[in-house]
Amino acid sequence: MKQKVRKAVFPAAGLGTRFLPATKAVPKEMLALVDKPIIQYGVEEAIAAGIEEIIIVTSRGKSAIEDHFDTSFELEASLEKKGKTALLEIARYCASMAKIAYVRQSEARGLGHAVLMAKELVGDEPFAVLLPDDVIAGTVPCIKQMVEAYEDVQSSIIATQIVDGPAISAYGVLDGKAVEGKPKLFDVSGMVEKPKLEDAPSKNAIIGRYILTPAIFDKIENLTPGAGGELQLTDAIKGLLETEKVYGFSFEGIRHDAGDKLGMLQAMVDFALKRDDVGPGFRDYLKSLSL
Ligand code: G1P
Repeated sequence: MKQKVRKAVFPAAGLGTRFLPATKAVPKEMLALVDKPIIQYGVEEAIAAGIEEIIIVTSRGKSAIEDHFDTSFELEASLEKKGKTALLEIARYCASMAKIAYVRQSEARGLGHAVLMAKELVGDEPFAVLLPDDVIAGTVPCIKQMVEAYEDVQSSIIATQIVDGPAISAYGVLDGKAVEGKPKLFDVSGMVEKPKLEDAPSKNAIIGRYILTPAIFDKIENLTPGAGGELQLTDAIKGLLETEKVYGFSFEGIRHDAGDKLGMLQAMVDFALKRDDVGPGFRDYLKSLSL
């Protein structure tokens, strides 16, 4: 019987040191692109893909994420009293958009370990993983494209994009070959986390969207520390290859690395320009700059 992807895991336990001092007291997932926290873009993407349950892996100091997706009676009462209906809708939507469960990762032991924390909540079914730092804009949400591909192949799928030059060393990198008749899929035969440029098996970098089968949990449990001394999700997926097929997936859309300062700035410009409210004024401002 064909299985559906109903759950999505959001690893959000990292310290976000690349954005200090902004992230000293504010979770990096709560940094905003214009006026929306980056994690909300991911949650909305998952909902648009038909995901029914969101699982967010947090850690100490991340309570702002829980507050964001919860009711704020004080705020709502104040907006209601002032008749600010549109803002009231926005506040209410945050608290009602999804069924969200939280689980803590008490030690920073890597992305694989963070995903393992969701094992009980996911259970024995395929699930999506969205890394909130990777904000992807597209006509069809990236994870929706992948959920549809999963319905066809019923195997784990990793989003991938071409990365040229030394920048490849910041990613997991896939090895494999094209699949005949399925132009977006890539038959994965191996992968390596953050290789040196000369050791990278290809230019196919892993982007932070995955559909994984529940067999991944067993693989994570049996991992030894990999790149950076951490339990790497990439290594666990490589382990899956011993028993299952894994596909790379060339998605349609533009991916922004909002975990990086330059990437965050680029995302901000792109998202602001697309907005009906601030877009036109922002465009005029950019045009007026003598760069
Ligand atoms: C993680 C993954 C890596 C992937 C990247 C995409 O790395 O471990 O395989 O290429 O996300 O953003 P991180 O950026 O958390 O170091």
